[in-house]
Amino acid sequence: MFENFFFVGLPYVTLLLLVGGSIYRAFTGSKTQFRGPMAWSARGDFMWTTRSTGFFGRASVGPSALSLHWGLIILFFAHVAGFVGGAYGWASWVEYFRWTGLFGGVLVFYGLVWALVRRIRSPQLRAMSTFDDYAVLVLLVLIAGLGLWNPIAEFAFGVSYSVGPWFAGIFQLRPDASLVAGAPLVVRLHMILAMLFLCYLPFTKLVHAFSYPWGYMSRPYISMRGYFGLKK
Ligand code: HEM
Repeated sequence: MFENFFFVGLPYVTLLLLVGGSIYRAFTGSKTQFRGPMAWSARGDFMWTTRSTGFFGRASVGPSALSLHWGLIILFFAHVAGFVGGAYGWASWVEYFRWTGLFGGVLVFYGLVWALVRRIRSPQLRAMSTFDDYAVLVLLVLIAGLGLWNPIAEFAFGVSYSVGPWFAGIFQLRPDASLVAGAPLVVRLHMILAMLFLCYLPFTKLVHAFSYPWGYMSRPYISMRGYFGLKK
């Protein structure tokens, strides 16, 4: 029963909330009651932005943000390759997931822990932080930690051979929880937490990922001043 709840029901709830929740939020401005302009780069409510923290502890934001964003991008493509490879039985794709995922995972873990410590330690950051600023970081640290456990602590990998077909089954409307029932507990926890995280995502600042690159490509240049220039 639990297997069906988590690996048949939850994936569809996740899809519904991730897609429907994001559209709902973009069109209703549900977080603040006030809706911003419906531009490509900033839509929905005024909490769509990440509320930049760059002015506080400027030196620490760079390495943390770079590591966690690149880590997440690498992990996204590594997971896609692993699941496609797993579904078709392509060993080289699953191997690619293993090593690229390991690199992306370590990068993301480092960036996330740094971002969390920075947010807790800086009084200015604590003052401006909301619940979801902490929640997304804690969730992602746990998801990355559980994902990394198997390859690092057990030196085992390859669950994608059963997770790939399970993933395909969700989209073919033939979900089969028994495919992942035999996966190690840490991997199943990793998947459940990742799905819960995706359910929550539309209601956090992480919606910026849906609009960030588009406006950035066409916006006017921003004039930057060097620190030494300011001191003169
Ligand atoms: C619904 C979404 C997700 C699913 C279904 C999923 C599933 C999986 C599976 C099946 C593995 C392979 C485990 C093994 O063979 O031992 C894995 C590895 C991993 N996942 Fe995820 N994952 C998801 C989201 C995420 C997210 C959001 C992150 C980032 C925090 C993440 C980070 C990792 C890491 C770091 C690894 C280890 C990669 C490696 O060492 O090669 N996953 N995931």
